[in-house]
Amino acid sequence: MNTIDIASIDLSAPAPVNEPERQYYYIAKARACVAKKAKEIGRELTFTVTTFGCQMNARDSEKLVGILEQIGYREEADEEQADFVIYNTCTVRENANQRVYGRLGQLHHIKKSKPHMMIGLCGCMMQEPEVVEKLKKSYRFVDLIFGTHNIYKFAELVATRLESDRMVIDVWKDTDKIVEDLPSERKFSFKSGVNIMFGCNNFCSYCIVPYVRGRERSRNPEDIIREIERLVADGVVEIMLLGQNVNSYGKNLAEPISFAKLLQKVEKIQGLERIRFMTSHPKDLSDELIEVMKNSTKICRHLHLPIQSGSTRILEKMNRRYSKEQYLELVDKIKTAVPDISLTTDIIVGFPGETEEDFLETMDVVKRVRYDSAFTFIYSKRTGTPAAVMEEQVSPDVIKDRFDRLLTEVQKISAEVCAVHEGTVAEALIESVNDHDHRLVTGRLSNNLLVHLPGDASMIGKLLPIHLKECKGFYYIGEAVQ
Ligand code: 5AD
Ligand code: SF4
Repeated sequence: MNTIDIASIDLSAPAPVNEPERQYYYIAKARACVAKKAKEIGRELTFTVTTFGCQMNARDSEKLVGILEQIGYREEADEEQADFVIYNTCTVRENANQRVYGRLGQLHHIKKSKPHMMIGLCGCMMQEPEVVEKLKKSYRFVDLIFGTHNIYKFAELVATRLESDRMVIDVWKDTDKIVEDLPSERKFSFKSGVNIMFGCNNFCSYCIVPYVRGRERSRNPEDIIREIERLVADGVVEIMLLGQNVNSYGKNLAEPISFAKLLQKVEKIQGLERIRFMTSHPKDLSDELIEVMKNSTKICRHLHLPIQSGSTRILEKMNRRYSKEQYLELVDKIKTAVPDISLTTDIIVGFPGETEEDFLETMDVVKRVRYDSAFTFIYSKRTGTPAAVMEEQVSPDVIKDRFDRLLTEVQKISAEVCAVHEGTVAEALIESVNDHDHRLVTGRLSNNLLVHLPGDASMIGKLLPIHLKECKGFYYIGEAVQ
């Protein structure tokens, strides 16, 4: 959403102090630089942005893409061909970091034969001081490093790098700033993520997010509504409201407002058809929200409600601030109010001190709740978090055995839960032409299940009634109802 005419910016004047004007100035500046380089090499300059991790990062990447396109770079599918390669990193589990180092090794190889290529790293992993130290020491070929708090300054950082030949590093510890109205390029024309808050104040003892994403900050409801109205005017029919803990949205605003109230405002937007949100912390999920979901015609029938562990003893050590019983009561309340709700969850196996009895409590919750799907994670020790120094780390063999048992149970249940809709008609938003078979398109149901059906690209972005002919475990084969 470009609110400023870049061509009219006077680059001989000093950079404006205020945002977002300052960033538009640097977009214009970088654009002039990129146009010059393109002329020199006789072709357009290209980029790739690779996203690791969660929906938040995916949304941040859209902002990076929007800015790069304004600067005059063209998106390229093949990383090896690109002039500017960006990794938007995740650090929630150790293996995410390892993947980035592995890929950087490969990029180094390519850069040796293509010296003008630029490499940029951003996202949660860059907020860890040890990571930046390691990059500075052993990965000197990286051009640009920045963190999660100053992503809005991307244009300024690119302009700085284009004008110098040195590694540019700008990582902030925290921020209370939210910059509105910067460009962004959506991956899908018909659906979009919308940040409603940033950061997290919960400090679950295993989790690094509060350290790398900073304290909770909510956007003003007016800014959120304005953004969604613009998106809808631009053809968006489904939005996903994003925050680490959407249920505590609005508590710290000058004029506090609940997440449920925000949803009611969003619901009123004409032309918007579907509302999703992510993620909900069970401790903050209010009766008011359940009531709003029950009465809504736009909020999708899906709730992601991470349990993490079914053992009250482990939940306490995790600092989750609910018990197994409270969680199960909450699930009962939701299922009673919204019987067709689909529930999904996150579960960590092998948290320090987890015994077989604790693990069986988790299995018990899985059997009782009967999740539509569950993301299962092996506990990963994150330096700096309280859990990292807890004694009694569980042995890898025991974790592997529990993980396999949990996964088998989760998959068996989700296949059964998914199958109950077989033979019914449900509305799907058609999202894409199927990668494997171009005669098929893929749609998403309100409950987040996917359905594949005969169709073509003209159906993309449409909400259509679909006959769910056959359940294939985690998805459906269907047919559009004429
Ligand atoms: N180890 C394993 N899984 C983790 N998660 C967060 N931190 C860790 C960790 N240290 C999982 C949680 C969270 C999801 C996004 O990632 O289940 O809900
Ligand atoms: Fe991490 Fe807990 Fe915050 Fe989620 S709520 S981001 S698990 S600290």
